[in-house]
Amino acid sequence: MSEPNWTFICVTGELLPGEFRTGVDEVTGAGIVVFNLDGALYALEDRCTHQEFALSNGEFDTGEASIECVLHGARFDVRDGRALCAPAYEPVAKFPAKTEHGAVWSRDDRALD
Ligand code: FES
Repeated sequence: MSEPNWTFICVTGELLPGEFRTGVDEVTGAGIVVFNLDGALYALEDRCTHQEFALSNGEFDTGEASIECVLHGARFDVRDGRALCAPAYEPVAKFPAKTEHGAVWSRDDRALD
């Protein structure tokens, strides 16, 4: 298998605990949102599974480890993408995230399926 393409999100110092940053996967064009939860990085597709609104417009609750969609209030666990409340029921796609060479990287790994 060839080395998968990783998408640059930001330099490490731009993603502090309690913050999130976005990017666009260079292969699939999918929106990516990467969260820093107490020093651990988690990446999700930047798309609410209710009506496909960008999750990155919402509120990151570090206490609940969730992102709330501003359109209708669905919340998702940033660690695994599962829906925590209506009106969303399907999980958001979870992507890998890493730090390397002083930067944060992620990718839409569904392209490898
Ligand atoms: S589009 Fe996100 S809750 Fe409706």
